[in-house]
Amino acid sequence: MQVSIVGSGYVGTTVAACLADMGHEVYNIDIDEGVVEQINDGQSPIHEPGLDALVSAYGGSTLQATTDYDAITETDLTMLALPTPNEADGGIDLSAMKAGIESVGNALREKDGYHLAVVKSTVIPGTTETELKPILESASGKTDGDEIGLAVNPEFLREGSAVDDFMEPDKIVVGTDGDTRALDLLARLYEPIVADWDIPVVETGRPEAEMIKYANNAFLASKVSLINDLGNICKEFGVDSYEVADAIGMDDRIGERFLRSGVGWGGSCFPKDVDAIRHAAREAGYEPQLLDAAVSVNDQQPERLLELLDDHVDVSGERVAVLGLSFKPGTDDIRNSRAIPVIERLLDRGATVVGYDPVAMDEMREQFPDIEYASSPDEALDGASGAVVVTDWDEFAALDEEFDAMAQPVIVDGRRIIRRREGVTYEGLTW
Ligand code: UGA
Repeated sequence: MQVSIVGSGYVGTTVAACLADMGHEVYNIDIDEGVVEQINDGQSPIHEPGLDALVSAYGGSTLQATTDYDAITETDLTMLALPTPNEADGGIDLSAMKAGIESVGNALREKDGYHLAVVKSTVIPGTTETELKPILESASGKTDGDEIGLAVNPEFLREGSAVDDFMEPDKIVVGTDGDTRALDLLARLYEPIVADWDIPVVETGRPEAEMIKYANNAFLASKVSLINDLGNICKEFGVDSYEVADAIGMDDRIGERFLRSGVGWGGSCFPKDVDAIRHAAREAGYEPQLLDAAVSVNDQQPERLLELLDDHVDVSGERVAVLGLSFKPGTDDIRNSRAIPVIERLLDRGATVVGYDPVAMDEMREQFPDIEYASSPDEALDGASGAVVVTDWDEFAALDEEFDAMAQPVIVDGRRIIRRREGVTYEGLTW
């Protein structure tokens, strides 16, 4: 099939490269000329395992990047993978989506035959129907369900495993309100992976598809906050919350994944989506009490981590190592990383902060230009009166005698990754 993807961010580039790998001819449209050039030269604009190989294999051939929306007329369907960031009050900013769908509509004026537009971005239930459809119809001069279709097909990719998640998803959600031509096109698009892996395809309404994305992220974020809440209780009783989690995870109704308690969730998705759906709920007149609580628990974990450090060291005037800066391992993304409140609160306490991360130091340097950055964990630990672990990078599991170089060997582990060592004071955040 011929497919166009609008947006070359983390979702757009991953989807475009994976669809090219599935045998489709893909146009990836972005306003950033630098990114377009990079993709056509075979270089991935984002750091994501497996993506470099795909962009290098297809970039400039069956994956063509362009700034020109007219490429859409060469294709059967267009996916919109544009950012929907939060406004200051938690609501979502639809300006990129609105501009994008208008450009798609303008291009479609020149196309003969049915064309499907697909919303991949995360939008509040009802947005496609009430906000995006009118723009698409008026820009294209065509009618939804007649010469054009508009579907919602949310993405469940995790950063750090986006390519694998796209190629072998748990489910594919297609919200079409029963438009059979839309369903047929999406079935043809995903046929290679659906057939290979027997993936369930959920055919549903457009608002349901929009809500499934929020519910998925809100549920997972709340699951982590619930295990963090239970983990905090475990800590008070001297109980190992990881043993508790392993046991409860054996109950199919609970499930073993997303039960790793610690310093909490970050990233571009959980915080953004949980805030957006809480805001939308409030506007609709409903108080989302459990989601509010999930956010409160998440907000308190960095302070709890530091209170455990306070129990052993007065960090004022002391050097403290922060191990891990990205919001999770496998990515250089620091958006809403728990390292940010941890560093802020250490600075408030008067500590000299030295950060280390295998890939995310340049990003953190932009946020905190005045703290120190070490080129290795050893260098970060050397002379430190205390270390906190914020990201579960594998390399931290191998640390051992490096702790002996600390001025005061106290470790507070926010991710259950550090091996205990004789002579080193070790505190687990929730165990
Ligand atoms: C999340 C969802 O998992 C994806 O399905 C979704 O597509 C994506 O958001 C999105 O909306 O685009 P992501 O933010 O990449 O993916 O990362 P996760 O692996 O879900 O981790 C989120 C945060 O939760 C991380 O800070 C992680 O450290 C934390 N976490 C996760 C825990 O603290 N404990 C756990 O057991 C699991």
